[in-house]
Amino acid sequence: MQKWPMINKNITMKIIRSITILSLLGFVCGAPISIDNDDEKILITKSMFPKEFIKYKAEHEIVNLLLPINSLNFDEDESSESSSEETEKEILLFFVEADIDSNGNRVDQGLYVLKEGKATKLLDHGRDAAASGDDSKLVFFGAKDGIYVYNNKNNSADKYGTVDDSIIGIAKEKTGDVIYILTENHELFKVSNAGTTKEKLDDVVNAKQIVLDYSDNIYFYSDDKQAYVRTADDIKKIEGLPENPSSVTLIKPPFILENAVLFNVDNIVYIIYANGTSEHAGFEFKPKVKPSAYAPEAALLQYYAYDKNIYEYNILTIIFGTVLEELKNYLNKVSDDIQSLSTKSRKYRESA
Ligand SMILES: *[C@@H]1O[C@H](CO)[C@@H](O)[C@H](O)[C@H]1NC(C)=O
Ligand SMILES: *[C@@H]1O[C@H](CO)[C@@H](O)[C@H](O)[C@H]1NC(C)=O
Repeated sequence: MQKWPMINKNITMKIIRSITILSLLGFVCGAPISIDNDDEKILITKSMFPKEFIKYKAEHEIVNLLLPINSLNFDEDESSESSSEETEKEILLFFVEADIDSNGNRVDQGLYVLKEGKATKLLDHGRDAAASGDDSKLVFFGAKDGIYVYNNKNNSADKYGTVDDSIIGIAKEKTGDVIYILTENHELFKVSNAGTTKEKLDDVVNAKQIVLDYSDNIYFYSDDKQAYVRTADDIKKIEGLPENPSSVTLIKPPFILENAVLFNVDNIVYIIYANGTSEHAGFEFKPKVKPSAYAPEAALLQYYAYDKNIYEYNILTIIFGTVLEELKNYLNKVSDDIQSLSTKSRKYRESA
């Protein structure tokens, strides 16, 4: 059984203060550590998915991935920051399997938890998962017959509240008990009061997918495949995106992005902001090399599903691990590269 270092969120923030999300994603995407050309976007090819990074092999397509960044996986305790000891903790990952028929429809193949290297099916008809972003351990599941909550003690799913809709998407506000559910007939509801109060959000019409940012803004797209954001004030169309895309996916953001989520538009990834603007995230996927599910939430520990496998990207191991073990002599050179990369990222930021 493999153990992974638990990464304290405060330490993570420190590490990535100089290495921005753009270059971070560059690392993940298998780009060389030194990037010479500032204007060049990183193209993600099959080499981004090396066998050594496979964490789990599934039997069906993996259509959803969730890495809870609450206390289930990450210690919020400030005191552990000063400790030099690295705490080892097994990461809990949730995923949904489905078969996709020739019309693009999903046939449920179950919602699973990956715990201590072992996958356990929690729900036959679970379709999506959402977690709090605070120091609770809450993880909710949207299923064919309503909402379930993860029971960590028994490694099972318990029915939650009174909702019995057929749910295809679920999202959770960072704290508190507000949950959003997207039903099979594409209606969005706000659920609160321990799952007993359900309120239809009439201003969101025919949403195909929903994702929340860490400021509780709701992003969605409809038949026009354009992204919209619903803030506390209003609904805005995101500007600056391609006009007639054929395929789009909303992606849960790494926690370091506050008023934004990621949006894959025909394999080009954008950061879309709650103020209605957008920008290139700096990388794109080669055709047919697009992940089927994404979990970049924890930033330094990311998971992607591709071709029925879940891949794990432990950024610190990628940057330092191999280097320390196999290329000790090059350590200085690499830290120079990281230095220049962070300078480069700042430049990118300034010119963006
Ligand atoms: C775990 O399962 C057992 C047996 O079904 C049950 O009695 C117990 O209440 C459950 N524990 C929790 C915390 O739900
Ligand atoms: C929108 O928000 C982003 C991120 O906070 C910011 O960089 C950008 O300047 C904002 N744009 C406008 C037009 O307010």
